[in-house]
Amino acid sequence: MSFDRAIKIAPSILAADFANFGAECAAVEREGADWVHVDVMDGHFVPNISFGPATCAAIRPYIKGVMDVHLMINPVGPYIDAFAQAGADVLTAHLEAGPHIHRTLQAIRGNDIKAGVALNPGTPAAAVSELLDMVDLICVMTVNPGFGGQKFIDMSAKIKALRSLIGDRPIHIEIDGGIDPTTAPLVVSAGANVLVAGSSVFRHGSANNSSPYGENIRAIRSAAEGVWA
Ligand code: DX5
Ligand code: ZN
Repeated sequence: MSFDRAIKIAPSILAADFANFGAECAAVEREGADWVHVDVMDGHFVPNISFGPATCAAIRPYIKGVMDVHLMINPVGPYIDAFAQAGADVLTAHLEAGPHIHRTLQAIRGNDIKAGVALNPGTPAAAVSELLDMVDLICVMTVNPGFGGQKFIDMSAKIKALRSLIGDRPIHIEIDGGIDPTTAPLVVSAGANVLVAGSSVFRHGSANNSSPYGENIRAIRSAAEGVWA
């Protein structure tokens, strides 16, 4: 997975049809998604349970591009190898999930995949200052993790602070939660380039009637790219 700062739209399958994940992943890629975002929840770090390594392995053959796995779990360490073997291209752990984020990121990169760190809304940008040479992605949560369809929490100041901390390092700033054509320009102008979107993509359509997914993705992308036009 090479690095470039172009805008990437990463639909979250948490908002997809749980009875039809493979076809849903193929549909959003067909309709223009750059990455597929997979929200793993353990019912302990967050008050919800979604899916695990077996689901990632099952959907892997349906995803031609990047499988971007977001681990909302604690502990993380015992599961890193399983998600890497399941085919994750990016594996993102929460800084708040236990005391050993440095070791977690080492273990992720030890699997030859990209490492991400996610920050909850209450965690300051400065918390990653010792991790900048260990991550390929920083995920800024713009909702409190656990559910799709929540109200966007503006983290523009944190995103700007991260952009200046990162400098010219090849690190994606990913935004996760409440992204739609209205909020996308806000976060892009603050310095983000990867936009996770669940409920604003997986609506009005289905895997068999996927053109609404394409319209939804194009609406977010043009709003985001309009910032730099
Ligand atoms: C929340 C997840 C988000 C969420 C995004 O814990 O990490 O990825 O699914 O869903 P929307 O785009 O509906 O806020
Ligand atoms: Zn997520």
